[in-house]
Amino acid sequence: MARLPIKYFPDPILRAPTNKVSAFNATLHTLLDNMYETMVHADGLGLAAPQVGRSERLAIIDVTIEYMQKPLITSLSGHSAEAHIHEGRLELINPHITSKSQRVASSEEGCLSIPSYRDSIKRHENIAVQAQDRHGREFSLEAVELLSFALQHEIDHLDGVLFVDHLSRLKKVLFKKWCIKNEFGLEP
Ligand code: CO
Repeated sequence: MARLPIKYFPDPILRAPTNKVSAFNATLHTLLDNMYETMVHADGLGLAAPQVGRSERLAIIDVTIEYMQKPLITSLSGHSAEAHIHEGRLELINPHITSKSQRVASSEEGCLSIPSYRDSIKRHENIAVQAQDRHGREFSLEAVELLSFALQHEIDHLDGVLFVDHLSRLKKVLFKKWCIKNEFGLEP
């Protein structure tokens, strides 16, 4: 495994659309393994492909941390639920949200691509997602609370959306000031 360089705001790759993955081969597995090592080293709980400069529609989430709720997985390909979790990691290839609760909740978020900036945003409390695992096998999952927020955060990345996009207008102004002060630069 190798660590990949993380792309930081305002790198335009973070805004680029991602492409559907169709080859579930060793190249894909290496990318997923390298992303995992990168995420663990950076002390993150999720990482999406654009954050390492890639355009594949995929993201990973660490579901081994104790305060992370476990996903309720339903296999759509005749496997056991556990078969879709790779060594404690939730790997989401071509994920999309299939339903979300009306109810929203606030939580404090951060992002490896905007290090040391944290803010509270609102997200759907519960969601359902459909995705494929590293072998291309379809599954669906239901998630609540922290895992639900993490999934929404990572799937947003795959659509070029960052958590700061969900800030109020006032907080966006404060975020811009923070970027200038911390020498991140601004998006054009
Ligand atoms: Co992020």
